[in-house]
Amino acid sequence: MKTKVTIVKDFTKGKVDDKLFSSFIEHLGRAVYTGIYEPGHSTSDEQGFRKDVIELVKDLRVGLVRYPGGNFLSGYNWKDGIGPRESRPVRLDRAWHTIETNQIGIDEFADWAKKAGTEVMAAVNMGTGTIQDAADMVEYCNYPSGTAWSDLRIKNGHKEPHKIKYWCVGNEMDGPWQICHLDAVDYGKKAREAIKLMKWTDESIQTIVCGSASSSMPTYPEWDRIVLEHTYDLADFISIHRYFENKGDDDDFLASFYDMEQFIKTSCATCDYVKALKRSKKEMMLSFDEWNIWYQSKLEPHPWMTEPRILEDHYSLLDALAFSGMAITLLNHADRVKVACLAQLVNVIAPVFTEPGKGAYKQSIYFPFRDVSLYGRGTVLTPIVRTENKLTQAYGEVPAVIFSTIYNEENEEVTVFALNTNKNESSETQIDLSSFGKTQMIMRTELSGKDLGAKNSLENPDAIKTVEISPVQSDNNIYDVNLNAASWNVLRFKICK
Ligand code: AHR
Repeated sequence: MKTKVTIVKDFTKGKVDDKLFSSFIEHLGRAVYTGIYEPGHSTSDEQGFRKDVIELVKDLRVGLVRYPGGNFLSGYNWKDGIGPRESRPVRLDRAWHTIETNQIGIDEFADWAKKAGTEVMAAVNMGTGTIQDAADMVEYCNYPSGTAWSDLRIKNGHKEPHKIKYWCVGNEMDGPWQICHLDAVDYGKKAREAIKLMKWTDESIQTIVCGSASSSMPTYPEWDRIVLEHTYDLADFISIHRYFENKGDDDDFLASFYDMEQFIKTSCATCDYVKALKRSKKEMMLSFDEWNIWYQSKLEPHPWMTEPRILEDHYSLLDALAFSGMAITLLNHADRVKVACLAQLVNVIAPVFTEPGKGAYKQSIYFPFRDVSLYGRGTVLTPIVRTENKLTQAYGEVPAVIFSTIYNEENEEVTVFALNTNKNESSETQIDLSSFGKTQMIMRTELSGKDLGAKNSLENPDAIKTVEISPVQSDNNIYDVNLNAASWNVLRFKICK
C-alpha cells in the first residue's frame, strides 16, 4: 500500500517545548522504594539512590519529573518527609493502601532529580492539604533564607533553595476516587486562592490547575470550563490525563491516539472559550501530565505493606506501538501541549524496571520515548499525507500510518517519526523533502518484530529493541522507504548547505 508524505519547511505548527519530554514519580508501589531508592544495592550511591536507574533515566533526557503524586498527593503531608530520617513518621497512604515510611521527601527527591539530569515539577495537596501548607512548601523549597521555613531547609542540609519552577495545584480533583474530591466550583475557588498565596511567596513560579482526569469522565469538559473560569488569569497551564489499555481488539488499541487527539482539541477549545469569556489575551497551555498505556483493569487489592508490587505493567511490543501513537499525537499538538509527563518513570507503569538487589532494564515503551526525546526537539511541521493505508475500527475509517515531522533549525536536521499501525500490510512510503533543498538521510531505526506480544525482562532484556536500518539516499530529495507492518520508525535527514 502506498503513502506519500510531503514536508514543507514553512508549514510550521509550533515549537516543541523541552517539557514535552517529562515524566512522573509518585510515592506508589516500587517507584521510589526499590525503584529509584534502594540503600544497600550494589549500585547505590551515598544517598541510597540506584545509579543503574539514574543512568537509564539520564539517557531519556527527561525535562521535568512530577512528584510526589498522583493520588498519593491528596492525603500527603509534605512536612512528614523532611528533617532527620529517624524522626519521620510512618503513615498509612490511604490512596494506595500502602505503608509510607517517608524516608524520601522533597529534599532527597530534589537531589535525585539533579543527579538524573532533570528538574522537579512539584505538586501540592488540594485534598487534605490546606492553602497554607501549599504556600509553606513553596517557601521551604524556594525562599533563600531568613524565614522559619527557609531556615529549616538550610538546617536540613540544603543551603541553596531548590528553585522549583513548576507546581501542580492538586491532582485529579475531579475524580471521586481522590481523597477529599471536590466539585468543580469548590476546587476552582480553592485552587485560585492557593495559587495567589503560592505566587505571593515566589512570583517566579508557574502553576498547573487540574483539568479532567480522562476524556471519559462524566464531568468532562464542563469541569475544565468551570475550573478555568475561576483560575484563568492566575494559572499557567491546565492539566489533562489519559491512559489506554488493550481491551481485546488490537486495531482499536493501536488507534487509541485518535481519542487522545480529540481530547487535546476539545481541551484547547474549552480553554479558548474561557479566554473569550474573560476577554483575555492569554492563551492557556495544556500540561498533559499523565499519559501512558496502563492495564488499569488488572489492579487488584493488596494487604497494607511498604513497596507493594502494584501497577507493575510489563509492556509488550504492541503496547510500545500504541504508546508511539500517543507520542506522535503529543508532538503534533506541540503548539498547545507544552508539558507532557510520561506516567510513570520507574517500576510503576514505567519504561524502567528494577528488581530489588538485582539489575534494571528497559521496557518496550522506553525506546519510542527515548526516540522522541532525543530527536523530537525543534519545530513541528504539519506534513501533507496521502495514504491508501487505512483501517476501519472504533474511530471510523482512519489512516493506519501516521507521522510527526520535526525541523531542527539549529542542527539543520529534519526528523520523521512514522508509525504503521497496520498489523498486516507494510506501507511503501515516499517522503518528499524537496522544500529543504539538498538533503541526506543520516539515520534510520525501526522498532518492530514478528511477535507483538514479546516483552523485555531481566533475563531477556533485549527481546525488544530498536534496530538500525541502512539509510536510503535520493538524488531529488524524495525518499522511498518501506514501513513494515506494525512498526515504529525514526528517519533523520541532514540539510546540506
Ligand atoms: O499514575 C497512576 C495514577 O493514575 C495516579 O496516581 C493518578 O493521578 C492517576 O489516576
